[in-house]
This record gives sequence, C-alpha cells and structure tokens, in this order.
Amino acid sequence: ALAGSGLLLLAYLIGSLPFAVIVSQAMGLADPRSYGSGNPGATNVLRTGNKLAAALTLLGDAAKGVLAVCLARWAIDTWQLPSVLLGACAVAVFLGHLFPVFLKFKGGKGVATALGVVLALQPWLGVACAATWLIVARASGYSSLAAIAAAVFTPLYYIFGGGAAWRFDGAICFALVVIALLLCVRHRANIERLLQGKESRIGGKRKKS
Ligand code: G3P
Repeated sequence: ALAGSGLLLLAYLIGSLPFAVIVSQAMGLADPRSYGSGNPGATNVLRTGNKLAAALTLLGDAAKGVLAVCLARWAIDTWQLPSVLLGACAVAVFLGHLFPVFLKFKGGKGVATALGVVLALQPWLGVACAATWLIVARASGYSSLAAIAAAVFTPLYYIFGGGAAWRFDGAICFALVVIALLLCVRHRANIERLLQGKESRIGGKRKKS
C-alpha cells in the first residue's frame, strides 16, 4: 500500500509541473495566466505568437503523461504491485496538471497531458486520439472543440476498437472515461464560448474572460 500511494503521489507531482509557466519564464515571455484565455497550456502560449514556446509547452506537458505511465508500469513490474495502479497513475498525473500543488491548485485543462497518457498506455490509441484532435482542429480551427472531440472519442475507440491491437483492461477504461469527463468539465467556459460563437480560433487572439 505504501509503494502504491508513493507512486500515485509521484504521478501527481509530475503532473503538477506547469510547463506553460516554466517555458514562458525560461524564454522571457509573459505568464500565460495573464493573457488570452488565461489558461496555462500550449494553445494559450501560442497566442503570444511564439510557436517554439507553444511546442515546448505541448511537449513538456505531454511528456509528463508519458513519464507517469511508464514509471507506473515499471514499478508495477518491479514490485509486483496491483495492475489497477496503471489506470490510477494515469488519472493522478492528469489531476496534477489540472490542480497543481505548485500553482495553488489552479492548473490547465489537461489536453496535452491526456494525450501523453494515452500514447503511453496504448500507442495506437494515442495515434487515433491525436488524429481526431488534428482532424477536428483542421476542420473547425478550434483547439478546444478538437480536444473535447478527442476526449469523447478516445474511450469509445478503446472499448470498440481493441481486438487485435490491445487487451481490454477495466482500470484503463475507467481512467480514460474519468479523464474525458474531467477534460470536458474543464472546458465548460470554452463550450459556452463555442455555443455563443465567441471562441477564438487557433493562433487567434482573445481577451481574458
Ligand atoms: O489546451 C486547452 C485548449 O483545449 C483550450 O485552451 O486557451 O483556448 O482555453 P484555451
């Protein structure tokens, strides 16, 4: 139980590293919580026009998800821990990004971290998830809509698309559903703006609201 809780705590702490803020600070850019949507995430960092900073934010936040899942897998193998810990760590790293201890629990929306988690859990599922995001983003121009679509479809792909690609695991499925629900709740302001036609498109500017 001690190893299990330690692992969950570590996953949460990894998730808590806010790369939007870290990268912006390192590159001498304004704090992403002070402009645009105010969200500490790659989409908002892109609103500065600095594509490298946005790409590094995306990479860093996604890497957290990959790292936490790989770490969990290694620990489960090494210490013969219960396999449900894999799904639990996936949720823990995501929660770390949403409610980071380092930012007074005011974090981001979890899109990049969720993608990293899914890629590490099941690479093909990650590819399908990323493809969904890209298709909706290209078609609509909205990062938020693309994220919501990818979040909703990924558990469905997992449930119905398995077969030869992966063996169904209840804890992983549960984790994917929880992450999708939290991601949608986290986008509620975006959903309102989308419905009102006020959402800003990728690369566009928007007043803090
Ligand atoms: O990465 C989060 C994205 O889906 C929406 O971000 O800044 O437009 O609220 P933002």
